[in-house]
Amino acid sequence: MSQTTVDIVIFGGGGDLSLRKLMPALYRAHVNQELDKSIRIIATLRSVSNSADNGRDEFVNRIKQALQKHLQAQEFNPGHWQAFSERLCVVGLDIVDTNKGWPELSALLSLSDNTPLFYFALPPSVYGTACENLAEHNLIHPDARVVLEKPIGYDRESAEQINNKVGEYFPEANIYRIDHYLGKETVQNLMVLRFSNYLFEQLWDSKSIDHVQITLSETVGLEGRAGFYDNAGAVRDMVQNHLLQLLCLVAMEPASKLCAKEIRAEKIKVLNALRPLTGDDIKQNTVRGQYGFGVVSGCEQRGYLDELGNPTSTTETFVAIRAHIDNWRWAGVPFYLRTGKCLQQRYSEIVIQYKPVSHRVFCEDAGELCSNRLVVRLQPDENIQLELMTKDLERTDVHLQKMSLNLNEGSKQPSNIRDAYKRILLDAVRGDSTLFTHRDEVDASWKWLDPMLDYWQKSKDSPVEYSAGTWGPTEADQLLKKDGAIWRNPKNGEQSQ
Ligand code: NDP
Ligand code: BG6
Repeated sequence: MSQTTVDIVIFGGGGDLSLRKLMPALYRAHVNQELDKSIRIIATLRSVSNSADNGRDEFVNRIKQALQKHLQAQEFNPGHWQAFSERLCVVGLDIVDTNKGWPELSALLSLSDNTPLFYFALPPSVYGTACENLAEHNLIHPDARVVLEKPIGYDRESAEQINNKVGEYFPEANIYRIDHYLGKETVQNLMVLRFSNYLFEQLWDSKSIDHVQITLSETVGLEGRAGFYDNAGAVRDMVQNHLLQLLCLVAMEPASKLCAKEIRAEKIKVLNALRPLTGDDIKQNTVRGQYGFGVVSGCEQRGYLDELGNPTSTTETFVAIRAHIDNWRWAGVPFYLRTGKCLQQRYSEIVIQYKPVSHRVFCEDAGELCSNRLVVRLQPDENIQLELMTKDLERTDVHLQKMSLNLNEGSKQPSNIRDAYKRILLDAVRGDSTLFTHRDEVDASWKWLDPMLDYWQKSKDSPVEYSAGTWGPTEADQLLKKDGAIWRNPKNGEQSQ
């Protein structure tokens, strides 16, 4: 077992990710007593001076405000904050300037025997320089770990460069490539469901399953990240990582053991079995969209181009893809993937759509006979439901009724407290890399997506416009309609029961 007494160094400590996700996650871990007492949280940022103290106090106050804003109202507690703030250290540091802050960071780390856990909440363009400076200041000892954020790179080549560069300084075993979707409780529940139930062991292949849908639908737009998002788009921001990771967990073969090495090996096999999409296949199997003006959750939303202030951007804010996995288990089963910003409702869901029964024995009057469906909801509520047909007990005649078995009945904990970043950060602290991605996974996912991104870049077609607050372009519905399928969209405000 790796050492759990670490010092967490967040480079880019004043950035959006740090203040919105990492600090709240660490605060929650602190309140739950999941962080060893000796663990320090060292945030680095350029705007603080190391000689005067006032910049530090101001920044600590910013963290406090960020916690008050991003935690649930009842979660913030002045007593806990006081103790949490005692863990915080602030260093004014510039990644690209070898003198600014590096000697101070080095001195701070030398005060403790804790293993350093370096979290790069930084633009990937400075990962290499960060590694060089860590090495120059002798901060990379054999157990030191580094956490890298997604997306790794911009395409296959740039991802390889980043992985090679970081790999010069850290062994693969000490590199934690984060995908916070894998920290979501229901994602892990999916593995338990698949690998501990005879029922699903038998009913998890092309003989039983008609198709799979994975939707990651967001209501938010650019959220002040226009610079990043316009260079990325939905494929790089969501498909390359979150969506393909979920697809891997649905489609992978059972690992012989639940350990990082075995699971990663199975996920890589899935990514390598994705049927390549090239040329005309891309047109036939993908839809990309960009939101225009609309109303989201009752508020007017400007169109993407207007919000961005650039009328010529062709960045996609929505994408739908029909994918196939060419192996024995999944031959002929389409995987429909969809993600978008400014859609009607925030929800993430995996739908396993079973085949219809072979023969209907009930008369037409007995009502609609729906195929079974397993719905794995990741958010906003975390839930797993199995839809089955039963008899309507209120009636004396045989009338069919669809019922849902709710498999999360036992959980009383509000899902917003089950913070995926907390879970994943604590795994990195413990040195458990099961839920982190190997560089070969990153490579295989870019290998599949690169032709699509190239094709769009070269083609003269712009993404189709959809009104903000809808479910995206109607072309995405057509994509499924051709196969006789239909997206499962929750009704407005619907939660799993
Ligand atoms: P921000 O632009 O908000 O923050 C980036 C941080 O990098 C800033 O704090 C900035 O520091 C720091 N930085 C940039 N250049 C330097 C430098 N030369 N020296 C020191 N610090 C530097 O970006 P995000 O926080 O949104 O994103 C950070 C990373 O996390 C990116 O890789 C992004 O893709 C990824 N990510 C972000 C998510 C999010 O929700 N925000 C979600 C998933 C991934 P300073 O404050 O000093 O200017
Ligand atoms: C991040 C993306 O990785 O995931 C964001 O960069 C997106 O654009 C976010 O909003 C969604 O995460 P969640 O957990 O809110 O679904």
